[in-house]
Amino acid sequence: RRVRILGAPTDYGANRRGVDMGPSAIRYADLASELEVAGVVPLDEGDLPVPRMEERDPDTEEPPAGTAQFLRETREVCTALADRVAESIDAGATPLALGGDHSIAIGSLAGSARDARIGAIWFDAHGDMNTPTTSPSGNVHGMPLAAALGIGDFSEGAYDWANALGLDDSNVAIVGLRSLDGDERDAIRDSDVTAFTMSAIDERGIASVVADALDVATDGTDGIHVSLDLDWLDPTVAPGVGTPVRGGVTYREAHLAMEAVARSGDLRSMELVEVNPVLDQHNETAALAVELAASAFGKRVL
Ligand code: ARG
Ligand code: MN
Ligand code: MN
Ligand code: MN
Repeated sequence: RRVRILGAPTDYGANRRGVDMGPSAIRYADLASELEVAGVVPLDEGDLPVPRMEERDPDTEEPPAGTAQFLRETREVCTALADRVAESIDAGATPLALGGDHSIAIGSLAGSARDARIGAIWFDAHGDMNTPTTSPSGNVHGMPLAAALGIGDFSEGAYDWANALGLDDSNVAIVGLRSLDGDERDAIRDSDVTAFTMSAIDERGIASVVADALDVATDGTDGIHVSLDLDWLDPTVAPGVGTPVRGGVTYREAHLAMEAVARSGDLRSMELVEVNPVLDQHNETAALAVELAASAFGKRVL
């Protein structure tokens, strides 16, 4: 298997600065060589061009879309990322996008779902199901799953750039959920998204929950997108994230989940998001992201 590494160094969607340094930190933690150890052939395509927040033209208007901040910039990055993800899959490789904040998932999902029906597993403390009108923060990293599912208005005119048409909510599973805003809870309840909270993991164990999530995401699909927000893990093992929430999965549970993804043989595209080196301790969250990617791509002891 060949893996194409696509850096998407954004921090437009997050509340804390510094997450744009995620791709550098993840590469510095030896992503490429760890992927080789996992038995795949990595090709690093570098970073997508992302203008720094300070370089933006202050005269350009934000699109009139509720309270979503930097939606124009997010659209530019995500439409470019979607093309690169789709090209990678066309070339027979598996795209691995490096965030950046979680808003980049809008691009990964659109690209992965361009010519196929896909499922998605969202490993995250959060639901990321806000919309420009329901979001209490205005941060687009709290909205990408809604955007990709066509929930809420992210369109510009008639052109809905965010909706990943090949992704249906019935093939989406959120795993590790423990923080939701009020309207987000309703959005999940009103959808066919399957949500596994931390309580489900506590009660049933991670292996059984991930097996169910894989069933949801692979049912009738051509493959799955794995979106790994590092705040999925407990902040004691992943301190370098902008929106930490206590009570996350352990190091062992995270590896077990990624090993199950590898064993499924259905991984079509993946992303590692929300690594914030400014908030990290000795790059350990980036190193953890690398380890988990290696597990998802098949690294094993024996
Ligand atoms: N629910 C909060 C919001 O919408 C936090 C979202 C955090 N998302 C993330 N990808 N870290 O602002
Ligand atoms: Mn999160
Ligand atoms: Mn549906
Ligand atoms: Mn997230």
